[in-house]
Amino acid sequence: MALLPILRYPDPRLHKKAAPVEVVDEGIRKLAADMAETMYAAPGIGLAATQVDVHKQVIVIDVSEDKSRLLTFINPVILERVGEQACEEGCLSVPGIYEKVVRAERVKVRALDLQGKEFTLEADGLLAVCIQHEMDHLQGKVFVQYLSRLKQERIRTRLAKQSRITA
Ligand code: NI
Repeated sequence: MALLPILRYPDPRLHKKAAPVEVVDEGIRKLAADMAETMYAAPGIGLAATQVDVHKQVIVIDVSEDKSRLLTFINPVILERVGEQACEEGCLSVPGIYEKVVRAERVKVRALDLQGKEFTLEADGLLAVCIQHEMDHLQGKVFVQYLSRLKQERIRTRLAKQSRITA
């Protein structure tokens, strides 16, 4: 396994749309394993392939306390959205920024697993937020795009300063 470099907002590659995976093969399983390792090391609770500059519809998520419930979604589709919740979100591609975003309270998702088998999952609370956040990444959308233009501008300025300091 290998740690993958994570793109940082406002990198334009974060706005590319991911293509569906045609065959779940060893290459996809290796990508998912590397993404999981990268997510745990960061540390984070979710990662989309877009964030590691691979534009395929693969996401990994683990919202458990003890990091024991790794979920992999390939070609995920949301079948149902119910209710609303506002949750403070962060993102490994937008370090140090936390903002409230309104999303569905519950979602029903269909996806393929690492064997290429279809499954459906119903999620609520944090897991539902995380699924929606990661699926946005596959569409080229970063959570800060839900915020006002002024806030987005401030975040871009702040992250640009940080990268000058660390570069
Ligand atoms: Ni994110």
